[in-house]
Amino acid sequence: MAAVKQSTSGSAQPHRGIHDSQANRIEVDFGTYHHSTAQESNEIRQRAGRSFSALLGSLYPSGSSIRILDAGCGLGFLMQVAAECFPKAHITGVDLFEHGSISGISMDKAAKNMQSLGIDSRTSFLKHNLAQLMESATQYDLVLSNLVFHNIGKARFKAYANIFEALKPGAFFVIGDLFPDDKADMDYFRERSTLINESDEGGAGPWKYKIKVLRKQS
Ligand SMILES: C[S@@+](CC[C@H](N)C(=O)[O-])C[C@H]1O[C@@H](n2cnc3c(N)ncnc32)[C@H](O)[C@@H]1O
Repeated sequence: MAAVKQSTSGSAQPHRGIHDSQANRIEVDFGTYHHSTAQESNEIRQRAGRSFSALLGSLYPSGSSIRILDAGCGLGFLMQVAAECFPKAHITGVDLFEHGSISGISMDKAAKNMQSLGIDSRTSFLKHNLAQLMESATQYDLVLSNLVFHNIGKARFKAYANIFEALKPGAFFVIGDLFPDDKADMDYFRERSTLINESDEGGAGPWKYKIKVLRKQS
């Protein structure tokens, strides 16, 4: 079994389910979040990864050939989580891929991470602003997102609209974020979906990290 070394922290992360016949260690760097150290970023991802995995497991059988979109994928952290939960899924990562809220971001670097993890054949990337209409007519069974929308103010509602447009009826939007104006987001979500699960991960003041599982109306 291959071990994944998250190169920004220097701490080796055991990685289950993905094998590498070329080498014993795989270099994967999911980047450092704005306002965080490399170590804090890795800790945030470890906690988020565990919570997302627990929530995703109940949405579809593990062997489902579903189509997944990771909205604001960064360097592909959540794509790895989704790939482990759903080994037959195809996952598309959408991002601006511009330097900003995550260090050293580029589509090339994200693609290299997928290659290192052995999941490049079932992942793809799209450079796109989520607040603008997606050109592709692809409909998704599941949209995931982590730590994206709290930074983009009211433009997030345009992005949410585009995400709901891209979801099949009855499909799921699982969003982890800080929700500084939770009521406004929930009012928006309630008109289009049902909140079927919520994991409150805590945090300081209004900056509480939550993961919401929303099911689009059929
Ligand atoms: C804090 S990073 C999180 C990355 C990844 N989801 C993770 O958890 O590691 C926020 C990401 O959202 C992306 N992003 C922010 N606004 C966006 C927009 N309007 N359209 C597409 N991507 C966006 C940024 O480029 C960045 O990669």
